[in-house]
Amino acid sequence: MKHLAILAGDGIGPEVIREGLKVLDAVAEISSFQYDAEEFDIGSERYLRSGELIRDEEWDALGKKDAIYFGAIGDPRVKPGILEKGILLTMRARFDQYINLRPVTSWHPYVPLKKHFDFDIHFLRENTEDFYIGAGGNLRPGEMRSRMKVVRGMYTLDLDLQAQADPEDEFAFEIGVLSRKGVERFAEYSFRYAAARGDDKVTLVDKANVCSQIYGMQREIFQEKAAEHGMGLDFMYVDAMAMAMIVRPQTFGTVAVPNLFGDILTDLGAQLQGGLGMGASGNINPSGVSMFEPIHGSAPDIAGQGKANPLAAVLAAKMMLDQLGEAEMVEVLQKAVRHSLDVGAVTADLGGKLNTVQVGDAIADYVRNSR
Ligand code: IPM
Ligand code: MG
Repeated sequence: MKHLAILAGDGIGPEVIREGLKVLDAVAEISSFQYDAEEFDIGSERYLRSGELIRDEEWDALGKKDAIYFGAIGDPRVKPGILEKGILLTMRARFDQYINLRPVTSWHPYVPLKKHFDFDIHFLRENTEDFYIGAGGNLRPGEMRSRMKVVRGMYTLDLDLQAQADPEDEFAFEIGVLSRKGVERFAEYSFRYAAARGDDKVTLVDKANVCSQIYGMQREIFQEKAAEHGMGLDFMYVDAMAMAMIVRPQTFGTVAVPNLFGDILTDLGAQLQGGLGMGASGNINPSGVSMFEPIHGSAPDIAGQGKANPLAAVLAAKMMLDQLGEAEMVEVLQKAVRHSLDVGAVTADLGGKLNTVQVGDAIADYVRNSR
């Protein structure tokens, strides 16, 4: 029996997670996979009601689950950053979910490229460091000192920035931080992942020609690990990578990308495979609790209308089953999604006529009939 935490969250989160759970119920009917689900009331409504994000007891309870199934957070009534940092980014850091796995698959015929390419790029986005480390601040007139503390599973970093400047000047800064330990585990995971997929190399994306301190160190460490694993390593600058994803997506396999660039490239990737409604992700800690989410966010403009595409949530559930060791059911869900696309059992964002619930029903039926 697997114990799942359900954080449906805001906007379309609850609608798509409901369909994902419907599909997991169908999986449980036809396989040995069994689960229970505990729902956590986390997100904007609670925050607006009580000013509370997540309590320590809830973090503890979440940490004891086998996996976390996450919908979306974000609400126009809440200042940007509060929910994102307080819930999502804190979760990734706190549970040390240091890999964000985001596959980009050519789900024909929804690929918006003129030429027909078959691709299956697996982005491994580093998920705890870089410009997401949370080390930023202001140097205001007369106050040219800023202290920051970064707490990670592997280290605590105290930063004390003292600046000399014209007393009238003002600055804001955000520091990108990579640690040797952090990059080593990222590289180790990337080469193992590539080998398991049958790739002979990893492509590392960065901007080492500009941010040469952090990405220079990252290159060195990836080179060491490539040699250790007897694997190939290609470097791509992030700007060139954005272009290459459009003109030759079929040439990429396992792609390792630091946090901020990974955020950007995987939205591009989601659109490449048919839209945000198809983008799923796994926030993975190989020896801890991992979290699985569609990457589309809360989409408040279409919430409650039955328009949301639940396939990203279904694909996130598929990744969760993979992490939980249910390889056979992963195949079934992959085929179920392929089938829905083939027969046009899709929502309006993909040109279909079905609503959220109907797509969920179609997938669940396919799963049941696959027995
Ligand atoms: C994502 C999102 C988050 C991120 C936001 C909501 C903080 O865009 O999962 O890609 O930037 O990582
Ligand atoms: Mg993003």
